[in-house]
Amino acid sequence: MTGLLIRGRVLTFVDEPRDIADTASYRYFEDGALLVEDGRIMAMGDYADVARAASADVAVADHRPHLIVPGLIDAHIHFPQMQAVASYAAQLLEWLNTYTFVEEQKFADEQHAEFVAERFMDELLRHGTTTVAAYCSVHPQSVDAFFRAARHRNMCVIGGKVMMDRNAPPALCDTPQSGYDDTNALIARWQGRGRLHYAITPRFAITSTPEQMEMSAALVREHPDCYIQTHLSENREEIALTRSLYPDAPDYTGIYEHYGLLGRKTLLGHCIHLSEREVKIIAETGSVAVFCPTSNLFLGSGLFDREKLKSNRVRIAVATDIGGGTSFSMLKTMDEAYKILQLRGQRLSPLHSFYMMTLGNARALSLESRIGTLEPGTEADVAILDSRATPAMRMRMETASALAEELFLLQTMGDDRAVAEVYVAGKPMKKAL
Ligand code: GUN
Ligand code: ZN
Repeated sequence: MTGLLIRGRVLTFVDEPRDIADTASYRYFEDGALLVEDGRIMAMGDYADVARAASADVAVADHRPHLIVPGLIDAHIHFPQMQAVASYAAQLLEWLNTYTFVEEQKFADEQHAEFVAERFMDELLRHGTTTVAAYCSVHPQSVDAFFRAARHRNMCVIGGKVMMDRNAPPALCDTPQSGYDDTNALIARWQGRGRLHYAITPRFAITSTPEQMEMSAALVREHPDCYIQTHLSENREEIALTRSLYPDAPDYTGIYEHYGLLGRKTLLGHCIHLSEREVKIIAETGSVAVFCPTSNLFLGSGLFDREKLKSNRVRIAVATDIGGGTSFSMLKTMDEAYKILQLRGQRLSPLHSFYMMTLGNARALSLESRIGTLEPGTEADVAILDSRATPAMRMRMETASALAEELFLLQTMGDDRAVAEVYVAGKPMKKAL
């Protein structure tokens, strides 16, 4: 048997939609199919054409009438916070100190890290998410557990050991030297192995001394192929404390700028309360602002200003930020993104939402030649979406006619129940869970 023919309604973006009427931004095949072989997409198009090109004995996975879209991508998530979701707190700093830093200490135990990592990957897949950029805990063994869990599912993931050497419990602190050494060893062990990518991860300026920032800068210089992930300008109290810890910096962004941590592979979680200067620097360096809607609402952090960032040509990604975020679902994430932008008087079309979860996030991660689309030659990470997954969705679908309408109800009413199946490098994963 050679290959697998995945049949259904195929939807993939080719560019960022200009507006809800921009039909040139995507390709859509009503009776479509993908031909998958050796983990890659070999052909995409009308079923009749793709089937003709396939061998006669090709296996067929018939997902009609469901939608076939690229596997969803989550650009910022904390894997050790899986059991800290839904913790009742005031805002960021109290939440970190009361719950998060307590929870993350458990990851010193490699067995615990492995237990959570396995369930974390399964939960992502149940929600149709095939790629994440994840923070692990300060413990190198948590990174090993994370990458091992991704590797045996053949998932494309980004991850890294959090570095923090102050303002956290002693059990969660490394030192500038040990953070550097551990990160170097982890990069040697995991970066570029199969579908795995390493992110150099100083948690945020509050938990890193200037000495640790220097060491982070050295790591970035020595490993230009790695990502960098950190948090920026999420919460007013956080910003005030950060400014007091780095009094010479012109602003919060200026700290990361000073240490050479900005660039096209830098993922900056939140970016809510930025000055004009900060927005300009983020744009100039090609760094990515990561919008985490459910987290920003749950922690009362503020309303992301997408228009301001877009008009300044800042690259934008979207993410759950579990456990500050409250759902693993990228559909729910876009639902909340839409509502945040409503409060800002900004509009997010459903075409844009689906672009952002797929090709948009792939571009933000510089992975668009591999994931985020269904173009032949790319890796076969695919989500199958059922717009009639619940009785209420079925009722609503009776009055939906246009594709954009269907996408909008999927995002507004959908969650893991709307993910009928997910393929990782061509292999079906959800039914087996
Ligand atoms: N800032 C620093 N660490 C964290 C974290 O774990 N979650 C969120 N939301 N913000 C942070
Ligand atoms: Zn975060």
